Amino acid sequence: MPAKVVVVGSLNMDLVTRAQRLPHAGETLHGESFATVSGGKGANQAVASARLGARVSMIGCVGDDAYGEQLRAALLAEQIDCQALTSVEGSSGVALIVVDDNSQNAIVIVAGANGQLTPDMVAGFDAVLAAADVIICQLEVPMHTVGYVLKRGRELGKTVILNPAPATSPLPADWYSSIDYLIPNESEASALSGLPVDSLESAELAASRLIAAGAGKVIITLGPQGSLFANGQGCEHFPAPKVKSVDTTAAGDTFVGGFAAALAAGKSEVEAIRFGQVAAALSVTRAGAQPSIPSLSDVQAFKAS
Ligand code: RIB
Repeated sequence: MPAKVVVVGSLNMDLVTRAQRLPHAGETLHGESFATVSGGKGANQAVASARLGARVSMIGCVGDDAYGEQLRAALLAEQIDCQALTSVEGSSGVALIVVDDNSQNAIVIVAGANGQLTPDMVAGFDAVLAAADVIICQLEVPMHTVGYVLKRGRELGKTVILNPAPATSPLPADWYSSIDYLIPNESEASALSGLPVDSLESAELAASRLIAAGAGKVIITLGPQGSLFANGQGCEHFPAPKVKSVDTTAAGDTFVGGFAAALAAGKSEVEAIRFGQVAAALSVTRAGAQPSIPSLSDVQAFKAS
């Protein structure tokens, strides 16, 4: 039976438009297309883990609106266990996304139901957490809920991954000792460490600072430059596979979900990083969040090519 990944986090309906470029403040642009796509960092990571070989449970909240039904259906279609996905009164989370011709994006999220996920609610699904091999959290649900999950994951002896996204300020200092793998991107690593992160060298400094703060291991994702792994003994750079990028939305989520699935399946850290990188590279060749996430056979075919 495949290993178990439990994701505690957000589900958003992504309202996506493509435009030649991202708008400046006060500017109106004509968009070229519009689509509603299932997303949210938590749900994307759950879908990535499931498509890439793990058994997955999702703990989170959707609203009692049409988006909530669609977001739940999208997870069920991937055989993700949704017994701990609660429907609450009000709107589901949404994300307003613009993707430009260079495949870069700008995103504004409105938490909606994601903001109603409380520690008590998660505690009510303790058996789901206890059945995990790997637990993943992000920062699109309330901070006190994330803090609860990290500590509970540590108490239960699980492998705990935090993708600190989105992050604009340092994490609470007492979180670090509960985190086995901290996986920020460059801007999040900068917000967490207080250091600029715009090169491999500066990423190494930031990773060292986050390890010194107490994180077990740190993986800074660097977009087309790959990722930097640090474990307290040293750092290693993993270059990314070269692909033609169409849309980078959910690339980080695909890396995190793929890394977790590979780790849960007993792969080494190095194998899990390489696996996550191939999955993320394939995701940027396709549009949208969940629709862009590759399957295990896509990754295997790419590795063989
Ligand atoms: O990481 C991509 C995700 O960020 C999107 O799916 C959007 O919902 C936001 O949460």
